[in-house]
Amino acid sequence: MAFNYISAAEAASLIKHGYNVGLSGFTPAGTAKAVTAELAKIAEEEHAKGNPFQVGIFTGASTGDSCDGILSRAKAIRYRAPYTTNKDFRTAVNHGEIAYNDIHLSQMAQEVRYGFMGKVNVAIIEACELTPDGKIYLTAAGGIAPTICRLADQIIVELNSAHSKNAMGLHDVYEPLDPPYRREIPIYKPSDRIGKTYIQVDPKKIVGVVETNWPDEARSFAAADPLTDKIGQNVADFLAADMKRGIIPSTFLPLQSGVGNIANAVLGALGRDKTIPAFEMYTEVIQNSVIGLIRDGRVKFGSACSLTVTNDCLKSVYDDMDFFRDKLVLRQSEISNNPEVIRRLGVISINTAIETDLYGNVNSTHIGGTKMMNGIGGSGDFTRNAYISIFTCPSITKEGKISAIVPMVSHVDHSEHDVNIIVTEQGVADLRGKSPKERAQAIIENCVHPDYKNILWDYLKLTDGKAQTPHAVRAALGMHAELAKSGDMKNIDWAQYK
Ligand code: COA
Repeated sequence: MAFNYISAAEAASLIKHGYNVGLSGFTPAGTAKAVTAELAKIAEEEHAKGNPFQVGIFTGASTGDSCDGILSRAKAIRYRAPYTTNKDFRTAVNHGEIAYNDIHLSQMAQEVRYGFMGKVNVAIIEACELTPDGKIYLTAAGGIAPTICRLADQIIVELNSAHSKNAMGLHDVYEPLDPPYRREIPIYKPSDRIGKTYIQVDPKKIVGVVETNWPDEARSFAAADPLTDKIGQNVADFLAADMKRGIIPSTFLPLQSGVGNIANAVLGALGRDKTIPAFEMYTEVIQNSVIGLIRDGRVKFGSACSLTVTNDCLKSVYDDMDFFRDKLVLRQSEISNNPEVIRRLGVISINTAIETDLYGNVNSTHIGGTKMMNGIGGSGDFTRNAYISIFTCPSITKEGKISAIVPMVSHVDHSEHDVNIIVTEQGVADLRGKSPKERAQAIIENCVHPDYKNILWDYLKLTDGKAQTPHAVRAALGMHAELAKSGDMKNIDWAQYK
């Protein structure tokens, strides 16, 4: 079939106020960019005329500035799910301007299928190739693309020449059936492929093809520093010791690692530790560090939802596809983050916390309990189902005025029932097999910054010390209240709660 080649502005004009727009991509990788940027202009024009213009956005995870940033600034987003990292979007959410549904990434595609979020009117899909019979070859991410292609009334394809056609073959496209017909997902090792390399759509649904040359907007992360290096080393030493003790099999287990410079430092330390054999990743995001480890032979295989790498790194992968083709696969988020598969494979998860409490509850999303930071991302998908779930964070932040370890977290994303290990630059608290009171001892002794150890021991003295989970309920958020009052948690005076 001959497609209708149109400009990004013409494509954007097909999107009406009130529509729900599904986007390809996962993180800025593979996200459609040109049409959303034009959509923001339409929204601004309509707002200037006094007309309402807002859409719902359904994505795999975060996007780049060309979507979340531009559309937030144009006040063009009514509703959005799931995860995002954009600063302007965050500001709008925390001013109550956007309805943000922060769900587990593995659940996004199925919740759209189940109809929880309403109809998908238009899907905008970034592709490196499109065939006349409706085969769409994705670029650097799987996201929720097959689901939104199937459900949407109309599909717009952004054919982006900034992505090499060598991306063809990277993807494993597989959509599970919905209950009561769903079967097991037949992935028994990270390298198993179970689907097709493209999305098959009815070509008649493709209402326009927009040719672009727009590189991905992935950021590079701050270089490792002594603090992140120490956290990374603590994680690697802990895993090496667990393997020596026989808790982790000598073949090692697949790893999931979050995004950011702590994740990079952890992977760097694991790569350097030759007592740990070359390992596999079953993860959601592959960062530059993993590509380096694959080249070095330290990572044998990477299964992920996206290649969230810098553009020079992405080009180097595309240019060297003969080497990478049997070492990488990109899946949809409902497969890369699938609880069934994660538990079967025995994935070891490593994610970053904003704060943790004395009993192992973790807050990954909210500053001070109310303000959204980014979102839960895939951290819950992996943590709840991991062979060993690890959380890392610096023990203090903001020049020591904030302790990352507090009596009670101000918001719970991962409960004490799911969190096995906490790692800071101070050390490692192994919470496995421990009662809540034993966990509190392990966390204060091993992870808390020296400036806060006595403060937390003194907090425990306010409790009767006997209950299953000792708390002085009035004082439990006292360190947060002190931060709000004086700007420094260290000024807490527990006497006011006696
Ligand atoms: N109270 C108040 N502010 C805090 C804080 C706390 N307990 N802990 C951190 N902050 C502040 C930092 O000071 C920093 O502020 P700044 O931007 O003004 O410098 C900001 O929050 C970010 O902290 P930083 O240490 O730079 O965060 P990061 O880049 O390592 O990200 C998370 C940490 C938790 C926000 C991030 O990992 C995340 O969004 N996680 C949830 C999703 C996830 O786990 N995804 C991976 C699954 S694959």
